[in-house]
Amino acid sequence: MIVGSFPTTRMRRNRHDAWTRRLVAETRLSVDDLIWPVFVIDGSGRTTDVASMPGVSRVTVDRLAAHVEPAVRLGVPAIALFPATPAEKKNAEGTESGNPDNLMCQAARLLKREFPDLGLVGDVALDPYTDHGHDGVIRDGYVHNDDSLAILTLQATNQAQAGIDVIAPSDMMDGRIGAIRAALDAQGLIHTRIMSYAAKYASAFYGPFRDAVGSGGALKGDKKTYQMDPANTDEALREVEMDLREGADMVMVKPGMPYLDVVRRVHERFGVPTFAYQVSGEYAMIMAAVRNGWLDHHKAMMESLVAFKRAGAAGVLTYFAPDAARLLRAG
Ligand code: PBG
Repeated sequence: MIVGSFPTTRMRRNRHDAWTRRLVAETRLSVDDLIWPVFVIDGSGRTTDVASMPGVSRVTVDRLAAHVEPAVRLGVPAIALFPATPAEKKNAEGTESGNPDNLMCQAARLLKREFPDLGLVGDVALDPYTDHGHDGVIRDGYVHNDDSLAILTLQATNQAQAGIDVIAPSDMMDGRIGAIRAALDAQGLIHTRIMSYAAKYASAFYGPFRDAVGSGGALKGDKKTYQMDPANTDEALREVEMDLREGADMVMVKPGMPYLDVVRRVHERFGVPTFAYQVSGEYAMIMAAVRNGWLDHHKAMMESLVAFKRAGAAGVLTYFAPDAARLLRAG
């Protein structure tokens, strides 16, 4: 409504001072929203940098507690563990994934002992363990769905027994949530939650992660026969619906920022805890620009994270978690 030549409603009034901006803010990011992905390597006394992810490193199990402790002290509720399996332990069937004393299980046992109140999320998929880099086993040149399920369920129950609280299957085999839920329940692991990578796209943005865990060089072909087509969104809703029916407690959309529309649709349709994964390539893009002086580190990081909340995410898996937690604590 225009009175005279002046606007009656001036949207800028509520933006005039920091205190009004705080009062009218519709969404807020808090430390409680953050899950920190952490890379673990074999051996002892080693920390290695991930070249394509400035500021991110991999640590051996003996260094894990010290590596994680600052984030725990800042109140980050959970971390997501990813193992970088040495090449000599990889094979076509990914059998190391079913070893109850593999890197992941060692890390889980240690962290549960050191930090009983820290949530542990365990990635379930075969790609860190297969010499071909695929998330399942290959039969006649095809990633075989049902044969992969048997191995994935063993991987999941081992992880849960080692202390992983939240099983996060990222493999995209059909029926895996139901199979894993049944296997967990059969062992009495009824409190173990499942966060399904329900809408996981065949994305170019996982490149730096594959460097980090050493699955990229090995990868033959692509993952398009099991991960989703970036063109699709109705299909994401079907994936989520099926995973929920099979027993998922929480769902995830991945990657994050290019898929905020999917986060929004999933959150609105199902009203279940919906997480977004700000993946390695998203982190790398921001950090590359920061390194060049083209973006402000803290501002770009916080804006990207609050965008997930605005889209409806319950929380974000992000390599920025410790940095963001530090900033949030500092106010
Ligand atoms: C493994 C897995 C991947 C990521 C998480 N779990 C890579 C892939 O599917 O190839 C990517 C995470 C990231 O890029 O940060 N199944």
